[in-house]
Amino acid sequence: MPPGAWPGRVALPAVPIRGAPDAVAQNSRRVEEKAVSGVSPDRAEVVFHAEGLTKIYPMGEVEVAALRGVDLDLYRGEFVVLLGPSGSGKSTLLNILGGLDAPTAGRVLCGGRDLVRAGEAELTEFRRHAVGFVFQFYNLIPSLTARENVAIVTDIARHPMTPEEALALVGLGERLDHFPAQLSGGEQQRVAIARAIAKRPEVLLCDEPTGALDSRTGVVVLEVLERINAELGTTTVVITHNADIARMAHRIIHLSDGRIGKIERNAERCPARELHW
Ligand SMILES: Nc1ncnc2c1ncn2[C@@H]1O[C@H](COP(=O)(O)OP(=O)(O)OP(=O)(O)O)[C@@H](O)[C@H]1O
Ligand SMILES: [Mg+2]
Repeated sequence: MPPGAWPGRVALPAVPIRGAPDAVAQNSRRVEEKAVSGVSPDRAEVVFHAEGLTKIYPMGEVEVAALRGVDLDLYRGEFVVLLGPSGSGKSTLLNILGGLDAPTAGRVLCGGRDLVRAGEAELTEFRRHAVGFVFQFYNLIPSLTARENVAIVTDIARHPMTPEEALALVGLGERLDHFPAQLSGGEQQRVAIARAIAKRPEVLLCDEPTGALDSRTGVVVLEVLERINAELGTTTVVITHNADIARMAHRIIHLSDGRIGKIERNAERCPARELHW
C-alpha cells in the first residue's frame, strides 16, 4: 500500500463462529498469517489500521521501548485475542488503539480518523462514541446501581441502548437495582461490559477482562463478549495471558518484546462455553 493510503473498505461478512475452514487451513486447526499490515486474510472491512507504531517511555537516563514498530489491521466484526508475556506491550497497544495514549511514532487510522493527528476534542469524541473499554477491575461507581452505572454512559451517547437493554444483553436483566457490592465479581464485570457496549461502539477493547475471575465465571464473561461480537458485530479485542482463550478468537496476535511475533487464524473457533483452564 502506498504511504498515506487508507486501505479502503471492502465489505465482506465476518467469519462465522463455526465458519468453513479457508483453503489454506484445511489441514491444520490454526494457520499462521503474515504479520504485515495491509495483508487481509478475507478482505473484510478494515476498522483499525496501525503502521510503524512505536512507544518509548523516557525513564530518567534510560528509555523503555514498549512498542518497537507494530503494523496491524483489525477487521470489522472480528474477535481478536492479543497474547504475550508480561511487559510485551499489550496494554500499551490497546491504549493507543483506544485513543487513551499516543504513540511516539507511527500512524493509527480508525474509520477515517487519524488518531495521532487528532486534537483533544476529536479524541474525546472518539473515546466517547466509538470505543468501549473493559478492564480487569470493573471500575463501577459503588454508590450507583447497575442501571445507574450504565446510564452514566447512555446519557451522553448518541444512539445508545437503554441501560435495561444493555444489562439484558449481558444476562443481568434481573439485577438492575443492585449496587456493585451486591453483585458477584463476574456480575460486576458484566455490568462493566454493559456500560461499554450500551453506546454501540465500533470496537470493544478489553484488557484482561477475566483476569480477576475464576475460570467458571470467566467463561460466563467470555460468553457475553462472544454474544456481543456475534449479535452486534462489534469488533472485539481481548488481551489475556490465558492461551486457552485464544481458541475462541477469529485471529490471535502474539506480541513479544514490543513487536508482533506472529498472527494466527483459527480454522475453527471454539465456543466460549467449551473453554476451561
Ligand atoms: N507509563 C509508563 N512509564 C514507563 N514505562 C511504562 C509505562 N507503561 C508501560 N511501561 C513499560 O512498557 C512495557 C510494556 O508495558 P505494557 O503495560 O504494555 O505490557 P503488557 O504486555 O500489558 O504487560 P502485562 O501483561 O503485565 O499487563 C513494560 O516494560 C512497562 O514497564
Ligand atoms: Mg497489560
